[in-house]
Amino acid sequence: MTSSAPFKPIRPKPIRKAVFPVAGLGTRFLPATKAIPKEMLPIIDRPLIQYAVDEAREAGIEQLIFVTGRGKTAIVEHFDTAYELEATMSERDKSLDVLEPTRIQPGNLVTVRQQVPLGLGHAIWCARAIVGDEPFAIFLPDELMIANQGSTGCMKQMVEAYNEVGGNLISVLEVPEEEVSSYGVIAPGRQDGALTEVKGLVEKPRREDAPSNLIISGRYILQPEVMRVLENQGKGAGGEVQLTDAMAQMIGQQAFHAVTFAGNRYDCGSKTGFVEATLAIALEREDMRDEVRAMAKRLLGN
Ligand code: G1P
Repeated sequence: MTSSAPFKPIRPKPIRKAVFPVAGLGTRFLPATKAIPKEMLPIIDRPLIQYAVDEAREAGIEQLIFVTGRGKTAIVEHFDTAYELEATMSERDKSLDVLEPTRIQPGNLVTVRQQVPLGLGHAIWCARAIVGDEPFAIFLPDELMIANQGSTGCMKQMVEAYNEVGGNLISVLEVPEEEVSSYGVIAPGRQDGALTEVKGLVEKPRREDAPSNLIISGRYILQPEVMRVLENQGKGAGGEVQLTDAMAQMIGQQAFHAVTFAGNRYDCGSKTGFVEATLAIALEREDMRDEVRAMAKRLLGN
């Protein structure tokens, strides 16, 4: 009899599912977000949620899980077929290509409800039955990640890193020290190119307690075990069930790395971040660039 060596997979399990926590109330954008979800606010001609879904698909992820709450139906409508609209557009000989990004393979969009807003960790836990026993991605749609020219999107960069090291990954970026207390912060270990070992994680630390100025920037690849940790996770910073606290418990049990994204991140949860994202994308788009540049000059008076 030959001894049975443990089977070592060449690649870790593929990332096929993404969770989008979209149950938040969006109070920072009131009254704009009174009747529409904040994820439907458009950066030019695409709602924020579309950018996140595009980024997921670029990374090869097709199964989308939206954790929603009351008043969020417009998000699901956005990814549905609008027969009347399409019929009218066709009658008028208008191209339906603009609707292409909103098409989802039947069965690839699932919604679960977060009935009470108990925090990001709780929102993710609400998706446990759909995620099942496989690694999955998380996108916080407020965080708009735009790749540098010629490089791939944030999640694709993370999936490529994941294929090398497996385990858990989070995207990180440096912020000025005075901003760390608004975010999840990592205690960095060994660094190798864009990959940094994660030694510790703390949610919204006081500036003087922060282990670094590297913050979690809204993209995650996590192993399904995080759901079991979340099951028993008590309240943390802000009296909410924090995903960061659950992830912190997995350090040492499983590989945990941070990926520094080669690109720009815009915090579209803030008004100025939203304006910055709009301008930045307008200045990148060939169909608008020249006009917007001239307009900005005019407005700035030079
Ligand atoms: C959440 C996470 C935090 C992360 C941030 C990124 O915080 O809990 O770790 O740094 O998103 O935007 P929130 O913005 O929901 O307070």
